[in-house]
Amino acid sequence: MSKSVAGFSKLSKSKKIDWIVDTYFSNTEDAKGVLKQYWNDNETLQQLHDEFIENTITNYYLPLGVAPNFLINDRLYAIPMAIEESSVVAAASKAAKFWLERGGFKTTVISTTKIGQVHFIYKGDFEKLKHFFSIVKTKLVEQTDHITNNMKKRGGGIIDIELRDKTSDIPNYYQLHASFETLDAMGANFINSCLEQFAKTFKNEALLFDLFSEDDKQIEIVMSILSNYVPDCLVRAEVSCKVENLSENESISGEAFAKKFIQAVNIAEIEPYRAVTHNKGIMNGIDAVVLATGNDFRAVEAGVHAYASRNGRYSSLTHAKVENGIFTFWMEIPLALGTVGGLTGLHPLVKLGLELLHKPTAKELMQIVAVAGLAQNFAALRSLTTTGIQQGHMKMHLMNILNQFEASNIEKQTLTEHFKNNPVTHSSVTEAINTLRIKSEK
Ligand code: MEV
Repeated sequence: MSKSVAGFSKLSKSKKIDWIVDTYFSNTEDAKGVLKQYWNDNETLQQLHDEFIENTITNYYLPLGVAPNFLINDRLYAIPMAIEESSVVAAASKAAKFWLERGGFKTTVISTTKIGQVHFIYKGDFEKLKHFFSIVKTKLVEQTDHITNNMKKRGGGIIDIELRDKTSDIPNYYQLHASFETLDAMGANFINSCLEQFAKTFKNEALLFDLFSEDDKQIEIVMSILSNYVPDCLVRAEVSCKVENLSENESISGEAFAKKFIQAVNIAEIEPYRAVTHNKGIMNGIDAVVLATGNDFRAVEAGVHAYASRNGRYSSLTHAKVENGIFTFWMEIPLALGTVGGLTGLHPLVKLGLELLHKPTAKELMQIVAVAGLAQNFAALRSLTTTGIQQGHMKMHLMNILNQFEASNIEKQTLTEHFKNNPVTHSSVTEAINTLRIKSEK
């Protein structure tokens, strides 16, 4: 049975590894070898990565790919994507090229407001609390000056604070519901620092408020934290073209393609089982760029899926229509992103990714990320409603299967050629590699 450990975080990296491999692995040297082969020879770079989190024992690689030819508001981008799923970058590149020839993507940032809340318990009369809030509100803002000064100079800061009565859901439960403009920062630290200061001021001022009874004065702060639900930090991405221009070859007309495509979107609009997978495809594109640009993909995921359920039923994030012979495909999506702060100035690959994207502002990055999501969904629906997804997916997965068989470069070349004209399945690849190896033994 495994044992627990005390003071693990205080051990040196090599002592941590010793403990891990001794406790959990039968072949300790093999396990150590796997961990150490991912260490970087550049000690400064390795230390940087070690210090991102606690208890780092090695680095975890993901491929960083690039999807070129994205025309967004008439400017060309090559988009960096960090992702393990084999077909995602290929699909993005294909969709980029398709829309490059049809006018590209159009995007607009609709809003950039972020939210944070102080959750608290107050047992007195609501009218008195409202009165107290109206008096203390200015002080709440003033006492965050040391946190907000720089942000205010650049045009951001606290937008508003509201008092919200939530007692119909939980007895005595109220909120300070605050809105923020955090400009090019994702803003989590800024918002959380402001909220914690609001909470302090609110609690202290309540103790001095004459109209409160001694019991009223005991406001209990439950917690102060930003919300990753950002329905007012919204970006729109869109593509459109004449229906007849949707056709790429003789196999399907523009009209037939548009009809099938819109049917697929409509299904995702009304059917949650399909909507989740449909939106997962969108997130393939979004997460990959969010990760490559050092942003918080868990925050983005949580906010996006909450937004997809905002009308009470989980639904598609994208929409499509044909009007007056024009096919339009679009998405509005909440994205809280930063291009300063966090990892953006620290991780060398993140800095490189942002430079590749012409050093975007947070608003520009919102637009690029939304486009990556829309493109991914376009590529997925196009495959699903025409050839089926497996053809392209398995083609891209071929290399993974060959690597499972530890195929040599020559075997890879021969089999890649073979599978240009043959369907890729796990068993067809198994058969082909076995046949090839038997032949070469003879
Ligand atoms: C696979 O990662 C994503 C898809 O399932 C998305 C979709 O079904 O729309 C292909």
